Amino acid sequence: MSVYDLIIKNGIVCTASDFYPADIGICGGKIAAIADSIDSSLAKEVIDAEGGIITPGGIDAHVHVDEPMKLLGDVVDTMGSATQSAVAGGTTTVIAFASQDVGLRGPKALSNSVRQAIDLYEEQTLYCDYGLHLIIARLEDESKQTCEELDDQLRNMYDDHGVSSVKVFMTYPGLQMSDYSILNTMYATRKNGITTMIHAENGDIVRWMTESLELQGLVQPYYHGVSRPTIVEGEATSRAITLATTMDTPILFVHVSSPEALDSIRKAQTSGLKVYAETCPQYMLLSDEDTKCHHDQSDKFEGAKNVCSPPLREKQNEQRIWKAMDNGTITIVSSDHCAYLYSSKFRGKHNAFDNGKGGGFRYIPNGMPGVCTRLPLLFDQGYLKNKLSSLMKFVELHCTNPAKIYGCYPKKGALLPGSSDADIVIWYPSKSKVPVKIRNEMLHHPCDYTPYEGFEVGNWPRYTLVHGKVVYKEGKLLQHNAEGHYLRRNTNSIPRNKWVNGWRPAYEKFGTPQQE
Ligand code: URP
Ligand code: ZN
Ligand code: ZN
Ligand code: ZN
Repeated sequence: MSVYDLIIKNGIVCTASDFYPADIGICGGKIAAIADSIDSSLAKEVIDAEGGIITPGGIDAHVHVDEPMKLLGDVVDTMGSATQSAVAGGTTTVIAFASQDVGLRGPKALSNSVRQAIDLYEEQTLYCDYGLHLIIARLEDESKQTCEELDDQLRNMYDDHGVSSVKVFMTYPGLQMSDYSILNTMYATRKNGITTMIHAENGDIVRWMTESLELQGLVQPYYHGVSRPTIVEGEATSRAITLATTMDTPILFVHVSSPEALDSIRKAQTSGLKVYAETCPQYMLLSDEDTKCHHDQSDKFEGAKNVCSPPLREKQNEQRIWKAMDNGTITIVSSDHCAYLYSSKFRGKHNAFDNGKGGGFRYIPNGMPGVCTRLPLLFDQGYLKNKLSSLMKFVELHCTNPAKIYGCYPKKGALLPGSSDADIVIWYPSKSKVPVKIRNEMLHHPCDYTPYEGFEVGNWPRYTLVHGKVVYKEGKLLQHNAEGHYLRRNTNSIPRNKWVNGWRPAYEKFGTPQQE
């Protein structure tokens, strides 16, 4: 009689807290045992890790795929293709976005918006589990009653689908929220223990800068970055912290790239506020140089491939990001995977090179692919090239913290016997034939480019396991083992500020929009 379905032998287990040689026993898709040595005869199947490092599978908590509302236009990924590319790079859970269907009315409107997304993905072959955040695109009206309605709607959405996080935008035409609407949202997220994710850029400054650059004919891809300098992110970040302080709501800033934003976040954290931050590999590994048109390049528009918001920053900025990752200012690293075919970016090509007015960068869809490359790039730079203090820090940022912050720990993001899904990455032993040169074809995604083409990395996931089954092995996908599910998550994963040093939300002092 086998005790385990699978045993992984001779690996070095690395979690957010430990690094030690051990064998892992897997049963029923869960981690069943971790021990110095587990007898091979107890399992139906054995994988020899040959001394390779074993980490929990990555959690990429910021991924955009095709969804019913098409808020971001024609991204190239389905949930199926995104999960496929994810496991090919060692990521075993993705959290993508459902968007509010602004046409729906009533107390189940948000819940039904999420339902539409889940229904869309049901027919697809999923290689790993996925969760959904909700993008709030619009609130009904600018009145205080809105926060009570939103409170009911969020509760229904959570009860029905286990969605425990929402994203709001302080920029983008059509999505930018007023401070008043953000306060209403925070009031409702606070009551429901839901995490508020903030895209912090001052949309009014971006609009003003964009129009001004266009009038001067400065519309090539590089000027997208010029239109949204680091202070634009810094201002919105400190404003959002003020709003969150008023409402006593934990917040998480997504895709943080600016030193001013990091300073505000650090200051808020030091004062005891529950303020968290995400960054993405592009802000450490690419720079605004990668959006420029170089005269020796035959294709002068290629910089459009790297247009994203917040934009890529000056090269020297990357040191600040690495430091913030290591000292705890930044809590998680996600990819912000948002892949468009290069041809989709051509909408911004018109007028970009003829000094014409009214065309150019504002029409380039924002975003780049990255769900597959996130872990290998950061394993290489952070661990092998020592830009992070330890491999445990790498696991914390890419696996464990996202699971904790988004309410799916220790099922995900950990290797805890009896509790964690057997979502595992086995890396190549150090003696193996690595480095690997990144090529777009390796990424198993439908996008026609990667910003990291030609980058060399010193390791790559050798095996990716989801629910104890190998879904990716030595460069190949194993479709017959692909079985991803929708993942419900828990609320209240971040405690409120209220109990920190007797601190009270600002509105308690001045009166509340609606007393609890
Ligand atoms: O440029 C980006 N980041 N595109 C994706 C949408 C977003 O704001 O996250
Ligand atoms: Zn965003
Ligand atoms: Zn995004
Ligand atoms: Zn599952």
